[in-house]
Amino acid sequence: MCGIVGYVGEKPAAPILIDSLKKLEYRGYDSAGICVLNDSLKTYKTTGKIVDLESILPQGIEGTIGIGHTRWATHGKPNTVNSHPHLSRDIAVVHNGIIENYLELKENLIGDGYIFKSETDTEVIAHLLHSHLYGGSDGQSKKCDLITAVQKTLRMLEGSYAIAVLCGSEPGLMIIARKDSPLVVGIGDGEIFAASDVTSFLQHTRNVVFVDDNEVALIRNGSVEFFDADGNPVTKETTKIEWDIEAAEKAGYEHFMLKEIHEQASSVHDTFAGKISEMEGTVILDELNISDEQIRHMSRIEIIACGTSWNAGLVGKYLFEQLAGIHTDVDTGSEFRYGYPVVCGEVLTIAITQSGETADTLAAVRGARSYGCQAIAITNVVGSTITREIDSVLYTRAGPEIGVAATKSFTTQLITLYMLALKFARIRGKMSAEDSKNLLVALKKIPADIQKILNNKAVIQECARQFADAEDYFFIGRHLNYPIALEGALKLKEISYIHAEGYAAGELKHGPLALLTDKTPVVAIATKGHTYDKMLSNIKEVKARDAIVIAVANKDDTEIEKYVDVVLRIPRTHELLSPILSSVVLQLLAYYTALERGCSIDKPRNLAKSVTVE
Ligand code: AGP
Repeated sequence: MCGIVGYVGEKPAAPILIDSLKKLEYRGYDSAGICVLNDSLKTYKTTGKIVDLESILPQGIEGTIGIGHTRWATHGKPNTVNSHPHLSRDIAVVHNGIIENYLELKENLIGDGYIFKSETDTEVIAHLLHSHLYGGSDGQSKKCDLITAVQKTLRMLEGSYAIAVLCGSEPGLMIIARKDSPLVVGIGDGEIFAASDVTSFLQHTRNVVFVDDNEVALIRNGSVEFFDADGNPVTKETTKIEWDIEAAEKAGYEHFMLKEIHEQASSVHDTFAGKISEMEGTVILDELNISDEQIRHMSRIEIIACGTSWNAGLVGKYLFEQLAGIHTDVDTGSEFRYGYPVVCGEVLTIAITQSGETADTLAAVRGARSYGCQAIAITNVVGSTITREIDSVLYTRAGPEIGVAATKSFTTQLITLYMLALKFARIRGKMSAEDSKNLLVALKKIPADIQKILNNKAVIQECARQFADAEDYFFIGRHLNYPIALEGALKLKEISYIHAEGYAAGELKHGPLALLTDKTPVVAIATKGHTYDKMLSNIKEVKARDAIVIAVANKDDTEIEKYVDVVLRIPRTHELLSPILSSVVLQLLAYYTALERGCSIDKPRNLAKSVTVE
């Protein structure tokens, strides 16, 4: 998730762009850049934060029209070359989103004589715009006007984009466009702002027009005209924003955690976008530097992680063993690093870490590598320490996660593990193309399934309110739902401060059952699958001790309500994928419980977002 800004007015553009970018830094900040149009395009880019960009700008940059970008890298390392704006001769573009077919487009453009400088998908947009405007890499005269070149380019893009475009030979004109990536226009007094969200220009104007998918807008002479994908003029409404800046950063949500829970439909989509070949029933993970031969002969997988990432790793264990037939161990970084692990070159180590900076995980992976293990990382932060100490990196594309409690980073870690396990299963001949296709078809529906849960969150909020005074909570599940029980307990305890324990449901009778009273809520993850009947038995065990049972169950399950006090529903999906949906329910349960208890949700006591020390 990056941030783009644009300005067309009568004041010097550079300071306005810098100030606007500073307001978007929470969206991503590994590199930044601006481009100002005066008699020509002047571009300034650097790695680091906006203040680093500001420090390299000359005084008094002339030009009252410009674009800017703050980057959260998804393609290509955070460095100056990869930072935006990206140029193609006298065209400059900034972009937020993911172009899924950029490799194919890049190949064609190179064939047409274009020379790429960066590793990004965005540079493809710049060269495509040039190609349409001037007829090819050596074109000198325009073949069409800029908006036509933009429309032709957009029709070739697959994926998501919010872009702002300048052309050196079109003074005073900025063109913006969006598809599946936020873009808003601020209407000032004789000046127009464009940005990924309103926070960047609220101090200038609260009159906002929200750009819709497949719309293009021409901004010039202090006004803006909107067009649909076919070039037909579109009339848009202006909205007055009443939010303050802080509320706007949370897009109107009360907390970053709630905003990030709601971002999961898109972050899950972005994580698998461009990686699933439904027809062949395979997964494309070009960034994985492991040969098929190594995958076939892999004897064991060692997953190393902490906290929520460790819970994700436990889901990975079940997936690698069930789908790919590879024995998998999961260790916390703090235990592995001081243990005496039996690992060697035949063992694949997988580090799972949202931040890429967790000290225990880093130390453990260094240890594993010293034993000769090949190592890959699943992380959310491009350029983080783990990415520089590993053989392959698989990036989750959750965007910055501000809330201390991991939410969208967890579900995108799961998505990555499903893709990896399926890839290994297919290469090892453990999964048929048919079974793989069925799983991938269901996986592509997960964003919509998550949205259905979010649309029905009132039921979860009511349940949270009902039991917010509980002193103890239990979470139980079996097989793939056991790690979700652990994650549900972790979410609840870390933000609501209620003592909560996650257990394998079959373990209750070996001790924990003694703790249950008629005031103990027990969350039972009882989604349809091969352990469903056993879960029903566990639920009856719990009810026989008068405890309260809150079931997480499939929407079409008409049996479960006979045995429990509350049912929280998830849409019916592939049995293997239901843990992803159940985890969203439990995130909301934890959030609304903490809200009811008046806790500090985004910054819970005693906790840090990234534990970079032992
Ligand atoms: C979970 O909500 C916490 N934020 C914490 O357990 C976190 O998952 C853990 O510290 C690991 O962080 P990492 O994924 O950045 O390595």
